[in-house]
Amino acid sequence: MSPTNPSVSPATGSALELFSLAGRTAVVTGAGGRLGPVWIGALLSAGARVCGLDLPRAELCPALAALLETHGPQRLALVEADVTSRESLARARAQCEERFGPARILVNSAGVDQPPSAPKASWLLQDIPPEVCRGILEVNALGLFQACQEFGGAMAEGGGGVIVNIGSLYAGRSPDPRYYEHLPLSPPFLKPPLYGMSKAAVVNLTKYLCVHWGPRGVRVNTLSPGGVLGGQDEQFKARFQARVPLGRMAVEKDLTGPLLFLVSDAGAYVTGQELLVDGGYTAW
Ligand SMILES: NC(=O)c1ccc[n+]([C@@H]2O[C@H](COP(=O)([O-])OP(=O)(O)OC[C@H]3O[C@@H](n4cnc5c(N)ncnc54)[C@H](O)[C@@H]3O)[C@@H](O)[C@H]2O)c1
Repeated sequence: MSPTNPSVSPATGSALELFSLAGRTAVVTGAGGRLGPVWIGALLSAGARVCGLDLPRAELCPALAALLETHGPQRLALVEADVTSRESLARARAQCEERFGPARILVNSAGVDQPPSAPKASWLLQDIPPEVCRGILEVNALGLFQACQEFGGAMAEGGGGVIVNIGSLYAGRSPDPRYYEHLPLSPPFLKPPLYGMSKAAVVNLTKYLCVHWGPRGVRVNTLSPGGVLGGQDEQFKARFQARVPLGRMAVEKDLTGPLLFLVSDAGAYVTGQELLVDGGYTAW
């Protein structure tokens, strides 16, 4: 066998160059949520300019305010958008392009869940009303699809790009109702069944878009976090962590490396995949 294979070029450039996003524009939906600023901070640190999209809200979330302070309006713009409305997304794209030029990276993080602290969080499975289900699907599946149409469509027509859809461990696993049985709720708390269903849809849509837009230079992957530490009660944490081979819930910095791998040239030949960042939860 020949010692060199002419179809494979040797790796060039430093590791930092591989992960660099200098000169690229990124859009992140759900910018004002818990994880939005984590994605945005990672993209900014790799050199991208970022447009953060979210619903209108009265106050800027402190984590975004801190990023604005550090990186300034030249690198970070916040734009109001509702992912369930194609018109709203089209307006947002126009605003982002005016600020920073066409986006080459889209991170779809906008999502709806129903944590135990939600106002009406407990139902018998057979009684969950369709409006609760519809709200989750509307944002997590249809909204994400529309953001892909709006921003991904422009990438496919204009020279390529990268989409990362934020999924969940629960795209492929049922939540364990025993994690919540200590909560004083009647009926007992159920993680919404449509949450996992919507995330499974995201994994499938990712494959569809990868196939259709691959020839146009658009890579599409799902990044599925496991449970991220933040505000959960001690009993939940103990039960959840007992199931994680790494023995702990994810912390924010566990998520940034995997995101940067997927959106940068380091992941140039990775598309259509679900990258589970779950501490091994799904390995057994
Ligand atoms: N936090 C976790 O433990 C965890 C674990 C696995 C997956 N995820 C997924 O990660 C993503 C981000 O999670 P998070 O913890 O930041 O959630 P979050 O609830 O804190 O934030 C979600 C954001 O989406 C925005 N949003 C909701 N509806 C919208 C709409 N119609 N248009 C535009 N924006 C809208 C909200 O305003 C909010 O800022 C979600 O898709 C979630 O399902 C989170």
